[in-house]
Amino acid sequence: MYRDVRVQDLAAPEARDLIEALREEIRRHDHLYYVLDRPEISDAEYDRLFDRLRRLEEAFPQFSAPDSPTQRVGGQPREEFPSYEHAAPMLSLESIADPDQARRFDERMRKAAGERVRYVLEPKLDGASIELVYENGMLVRAVTRGDGRVGEGVTENVKTIRSVPLRLRSQARPVPPLLALRGEVIMYISAFEKLNRKLIEAGLEPFANPRNAAAGSLRQLDPRITAERPLDLLAYEILEVTGQALRTDREVLDALRSWGLKLPEKIEAGEGVDDILEYHAHWAAERDNLDFEIDGVVVKVDDLALRDELGVTAHHPRWAIAFKFPPRKEVTRVEDIMVSVGRTGVLTPVALLRSVEVGGVTVSRASLHNREEVKRKDIRTGDLVRVQRAGDVIPDVVERVEEAGRKRAEPWSMADRCPACGARVVERGPITYCPNRFGCPAQLKGRIQHFGSKDALDIEGLGEETSAALVEHGLVKELAHLFRLRPEHLLALEGFAERSAQKLVDAIQRRKRPELARFLYALGIPEVGVSVARDLAEHFGSLEAILEASREELEGVPGIGPKMSEAIRSFVEDPRNIEAIGSLVAHGVQPVAPRRRGSEPLPGFKFVFSGGLARFSRDEVKKLVESLGARVSSSVSAQTDYVVVGLEPGSKLDDARRLGVKTIDELEFIELLRRAGADV
Ligand code: IVH
Repeated sequence: MYRDVRVQDLAAPEARDLIEALREEIRRHDHLYYVLDRPEISDAEYDRLFDRLRRLEEAFPQFSAPDSPTQRVGGQPREEFPSYEHAAPMLSLESIADPDQARRFDERMRKAAGERVRYVLEPKLDGASIELVYENGMLVRAVTRGDGRVGEGVTENVKTIRSVPLRLRSQARPVPPLLALRGEVIMYISAFEKLNRKLIEAGLEPFANPRNAAAGSLRQLDPRITAERPLDLLAYEILEVTGQALRTDREVLDALRSWGLKLPEKIEAGEGVDDILEYHAHWAAERDNLDFEIDGVVVKVDDLALRDELGVTAHHPRWAIAFKFPPRKEVTRVEDIMVSVGRTGVLTPVALLRSVEVGGVTVSRASLHNREEVKRKDIRTGDLVRVQRAGDVIPDVVERVEEAGRKRAEPWSMADRCPACGARVVERGPITYCPNRFGCPAQLKGRIQHFGSKDALDIEGLGEETSAALVEHGLVKELAHLFRLRPEHLLALEGFAERSAQKLVDAIQRRKRPELARFLYALGIPEVGVSVARDLAEHFGSLEAILEASREELEGVPGIGPKMSEAIRSFVEDPRNIEAIGSLVAHGVQPVAPRRRGSEPLPGFKFVFSGGLARFSRDEVKKLVESLGARVSSSVSAQTDYVVVGLEPGSKLDDARRLGVKTIDELEFIELLRRAGADV
C-alpha cells in the first residue's frame, strides 16, 4: 500500500504521516512474528516495508525517533556500561529439589493464607535476568541483574532483541507512566550451537552453555555484535508500575502480554502441592525436547496482597520457590587425578576425564573436593565414574561405577608438597592447604583472577589464562603490580597484540577508583563475600575504618558473627596484607566510599493505607515511607504497625480494629514522618 509514492515527491507532512504509519505497521508485524509467532506477511514483504521506512527516515531526518524499528541497532560501541540501581531489588529464588520440600512450601503458604492460596506455575528459564524500564511506554533502560541492587545498563544491546517492544502497545490497556519489569534473556539451543561452531571456526573460545552465551552477548560493548546473536526475552515479573490496580500475578502477566511483551510458554494456575508436582513432572519430561534450557519450575503465590504480607528475606521472596530438576548425570572414565591450588591455598584434587557431554555441555574435568572425598568414594585413575552437572556448579564426580574383573590402579593419595611452590602442605580436617600464601605462584594467580572478576573489580580480559601468564612471566608479583603494567609488557605474552594489550591496560587503569565494596571483595579476605563486603562498606564508610575496626565493632554490623570478625581481624593483623593494600594505594588505587544512606528512622515499620490521602498519591507515599526504611503493604495483618486512615476508608479499617492494629489519620501520619526526619 505504500509502494506507489516516490520518496522525493513527498512533502514533509505527508512524509511524517507515512513514516508513522510504516512504523506502526512494522511494529505490528514484529509483534506478530517475534512475540506471537504468527506472521501475516512474507519475509520479503516485511523487508520491503522496512526498507521503505529506512529510506524515508534518511530523506527526512527531522522525523527520526529512538523508538523507530530502524533504531534497533543504532548504538555506538561503548567503553564500559553505566551502573543503575534497580527499581526494586532483583531477588533470587530459594531452591528446592524434592517433593517433600514442595509439600512444606505449600503448607507454609496455607498457614499464612488459609485455603484460598493459589499458585502461578512457570518454567524456570536458564538465561540471564534483566530489568526493562519503560517511561510513558518508551523503553528507556535495560539493566542486568548485577548484584541484585545495582546492575549494568545494556540498553542498546537489549534493543537489538526483536521481541522486545521499543514502545509498549496500548491497544488493549493504557500504557503506565512507569513500568519496570523483569524477564530472562535466553539463547535458543540451536542458535547457541550454531554460534559456537562459528566461534570455533574463527579460532575463538566457544561458550560453555546457552546461559553464558546469552549473558556474554548482552555484555558486548558493541551492540552490532549483540545484534548478530539470536537472543529472545521472556518477561515474568513487574518490579514497579504506576497507575495500575493489579491484584494477582495473572493480571500482571495479562498486562505484560497486552503491552506487547513475550511471556514464557505454558504458564499455569495451581491450587496445591499435587498441581505443583504434576507441573514439575511435565516439564522434567519435556525438558530434553525443548530448544531452550530450563532448570526447574517456579512456583509463585498468585495474590499480590498476600505476597506483600509474606514479604521477603534478604535474598528471596517468601512467596515463591524454584523447584529444580535433578542434575543430569553421565558416565565416563578418569584419565588422571591432579591437584589444583586455589587463591586461598586450598589443594583440590581434580579428576581429568575422558570428555563427555552432560546436558549439552562438554565436561573434561570434575572436582573431587578434598582428600577425604577421594578416599570415601575410592576414586582412582582409570576408574569409570558417574559425573553430574547442576546448573552453575563445577561438574562433580558422584560415584564410582563398579566394573567386574577390571584391575584397578593403586589408591590415590594427596601430595605432601604444594605442586605449585613445593611448600610442605598443612592439613586442617579434610582440607589440605599450601601455607605459602605470599610466595606460592598458584595462589597469586588465583588472587589476580579473583581481583579482576565480575563482582570484584570487573576487569575485562583479566581471566584465568592471562592471570597465569602474568605470574609466569614475572610481570605481577603482587596485586598492585597490575597497575604498573604497560602494553609493551603484555606483548611478550601469548595471544596479545598491540590492540589487545592496550585494551587490558586501559581496563585495569579504569578501575583505579573502585567502589569500596568491590575493592573489599576483590582483596579476597576469607569469609568476605559480595554481600558482607557491601555491608561493611556501608556500615564503616571507609577502608581505614574497616581496617581499624575491632572484633566487637565488626560484629556490630548485622549479619557479621564471630567467625567472620575473626577472619577479618586475622587478615588485617598480618602485616603482609596491610603492605599489599598499602602498595595498591601507592599505585594510585583509591576505593570510593558509598553514598551514606539516610539513617532510616522507621526501620522495618509496616504501614497499610485505607482510603485516599489528601496530600499524597499512593506512589508518593510509598516512596516516602520506603525512603525512611519502612514498608507499605496492601493488607492488614498482626504484623502491621500502623493503618493510616484517609478519606472513605474501606474494609482495612475494620481489619485494623479487629486485629487491634494502631490507626492514625493523615495529620498524625505527617507528624510521624516529620519526627522521623522527612521533609513533608
Ligand atoms: S521470578 C522475586 N520467574 O531464576 C522473584 N525467575 O533465582 C524473581 N528465572 O535470577 C524471580 N525463570 O533470573 C522468576 N519464571 C521465572 C524465572 C525466573 C527464570 C530466574 C531468574 C532468577 C533465578 C532465580
